[in-house]
Amino acid sequence: MALRGTATTEDRETAIAAAVAALAAGRLVGLPTETVYGLGADATDGRAVAAIYAAKGRPSFNPLIAHVPDLEQAERHGVFDATARALAAAFWPGPLTLVVPKRPESPVADLATAGLDTIGLRVPANPVTREILARFARPVAAPSANRSGRVSPTRAEDVVEELGEAVAEVIDAGATPVGVESTIVAVLDGRVRLLRPGGVTRAAIEAVVGHPLADDGPLTDDAAPMAPGMLSSHYAPVASVRLEARRLEPGEALIAFGPDRPAGWERAVAVFDLSPSGDLAEAAANLFRALRDLDAAGATAIAVAPIPAEGLGEAIVDRLRRAAAPRP
Ligand code: TXA
Ligand code: MG
Repeated sequence: MALRGTATTEDRETAIAAAVAALAAGRLVGLPTETVYGLGADATDGRAVAAIYAAKGRPSFNPLIAHVPDLEQAERHGVFDATARALAAAFWPGPLTLVVPKRPESPVADLATAGLDTIGLRVPANPVTREILARFARPVAAPSANRSGRVSPTRAEDVVEELGEAVAEVIDAGATPVGVESTIVAVLDGRVRLLRPGGVTRAAIEAVVGHPLADDGPLTDDAAPMAPGMLSSHYAPVASVRLEARRLEPGEALIAFGPDRPAGWERAVAVFDLSPSGDLAEAAANLFRALRDLDAAGATAIAVAPIPAEGLGEAIVDRLRRAAAPRP
């Protein structure tokens, strides 16, 4: 495994060339995006895609997002109606994944879409990764670069820690600015549904669509997950997680939010402040780092201060609920 920096023009060029070569050879690459780091492989190569599932230990019914450099490329793989186009125009490149009908002629491997007749497509905003996608000129399947069920990586070091020798190259572009995964919106049969809250808020999507998003039953359905990343226990640190904590119990570490801390916070075994001022974007960017750092500090129980489930808070609270859910 090679860890490639991107600080200088020369490093960046070397990193891009190495990533493209590894993808072309059917290998796995750790790629920075604005949300979290992805574990990328050539989406048209069924064997490369199989290596993603193997490295993650992911249930193979879980479809992967195909990453492309622009809308024009996306339209080769999926059918975009006027609404899907408007959403792409508003938020790409950026933290939005669109689930649309898959074109029968798309070369994306069936294994990447888990045999569905739909496809999740996204144009990520990280400039190095976009350049890799443009030069590779094939869609790149990339789930978050963590082992299945674990906390998503927001730094290149996290990818190394999670997947180490399974990846040929890890491209280091520093900490990911958004910090939670893309919002997933399905635009199918003229209906727009939110499948996963994420880096684009519900309100921002609704402003483009022109009406409230259909809430299509519960987001969690372990039996037949529509967006299988929605399995109820997910994003889990090793430590147990307790939400809406208004008082610290002995032995707990604290994830704080905003200026007010829960009663008894002074006895927390460790404290991670998501955003001292109560800024949700800052909190989202720090969320997975907080879970990882408290695990690394040896915390066995984490109490999380109340966080409002509005705006970006919807994605933050969603991830924390999954981190707190009973483990299989
Ligand atoms: O921000 C992100 O979306 C990151 C970065 C790396 O792009 N990727 C990511 O991928 O979060 P992953 O595999 O961890 O989550 C993708 C989610 C899964 O829950 C999957 O079930 C859903 O997208 N998905 C993908 N294709 C789908 C489809 N055709 N229909 C429904 N859900 C789909
Ligand atoms: Mg994931």
